[in-house]
Amino acid sequence: MAKTINQRLHNAKKARNDEFYTQLNDIQLEISHYKKEFKNKIVLCNCDDPYESNFFKYFALNFNALGLKRLIATCYDPSPIACVQLDLFDSSTPELKEKRAFKIEIEEITDINGDGSIDLADVEFLIRNKKNVLTLLNSNGDFQSKECKELLKQADIVVTNPPFSLFKEFISLIREYNKKFLIIGNTNALKYKECFEMFMRNEMRTGYTHFNTGMFFQVPEHYEKFHHLENGKKIARVSTSCWFTNLPVKKHNEDIVLFKSYTPELYPKYDNYDAINVNIYTDIPNDYDGIMGVPITFLDKYNPKQFDIIGCSDRGGDNRPQVNAIRLTEKPEDSPKINGKKIYTRVFIRRRQQQTSEDANIAADSGTQYGVDE
Ligand SMILES: C[S@@+](CC[C@H](N)C(=O)[O-])C[C@H]1O[C@@H](n2cnc3c(N)ncnc32)[C@H](O)[C@@H]1O
Repeated sequence: MAKTINQRLHNAKKARNDEFYTQLNDIQLEISHYKKEFKNKIVLCNCDDPYESNFFKYFALNFNALGLKRLIATCYDPSPIACVQLDLFDSSTPELKEKRAFKIEIEEITDINGDGSIDLADVEFLIRNKKNVLTLLNSNGDFQSKECKELLKQADIVVTNPPFSLFKEFISLIREYNKKFLIIGNTNALKYKECFEMFMRNEMRTGYTHFNTGMFFQVPEHYEKFHHLENGKKIARVSTSCWFTNLPVKKHNEDIVLFKSYTPELYPKYDNYDAINVNIYTDIPNDYDGIMGVPITFLDKYNPKQFDIIGCSDRGGDNRPQVNAIRLTEKPEDSPKINGKKIYTRVFIRRRQQQTSEDANIAADSGTQYGVDE
């Protein structure tokens, strides 16, 4: 029991550095590609104070346009900025003054106030006046709590920017409950064992928003590190932010165009792995059938019909028998090296030789799964 409380305190402490608020524009840009995926679906935003989250705002405003069945958003009460950050609505209701964790569930949004359009005023009216739309949670809104897991069970798609410090726990939970997801994370998460395995199994891919150029987030007043001020609010840049999803993403069904030929001089072998080194994914030779080490950015272009992923030189691949099979040294923690010089983390890949039955399944799915953006 004591351990559980300690763990919760530890998580709450970690979460205090996780207050990065996603901008509406970034949410709009990414979600616009998956419109059809949301029709008649229950969307859960489980790290989202509805009064502070642009994810909630986006789905509330687009509830009818997307044809959602239900929208659920839950907030976390140890959040240091609960109800003070974005202030999307007037949050002076007695429940919110207590700053207790609560959930909002919406099944229908109409022009309640009769002003001729459906907007945030209607959402606010709904929250204030319709019973059972806003209810207090018994727990603190931790996405791992029993109460939130019950909501997760009901959901079809989870869409949020979860606390990065709990990203592994978050993705493991989604995987355990076998849910569709569209979430923001850090590109470093690709190397986590949990995520890398999902990439290898084609259970997770990167989204449409350009990978590795970063995103801007609103951060609390007390954060010292920020990029610039916008209307007096602190905006931070996280250059390693990206979207992760198991929804269809067109680019992952398209071959990377390969125009280079293999030569031993251009593509030396590693000292410690039986594989050749490729420095940029666009330089992958089109005529090499052995194992190649490519930078982690390859995963943003990865088409499982074109390449097999063998493993990763870093954590994600350490225990994988396939990586051990090409390892030329005993030490499992060895970074790839060429002439004794360390190279960054490499993903080991091999060209697919021919259509397998698995390819045929991917291809059969592709009509419905991949060609979705309009
Ligand atoms: C990166 S912020 C993103 C907030 C919002 N989803 C957005 O994108 O604007 C992560 C949020 O998760 C909340 N959080 C931290 N730990 C949590 C937990 N265990 N369960 C649920 N939410 C948590 C934090 O308070 C914070 O508001």
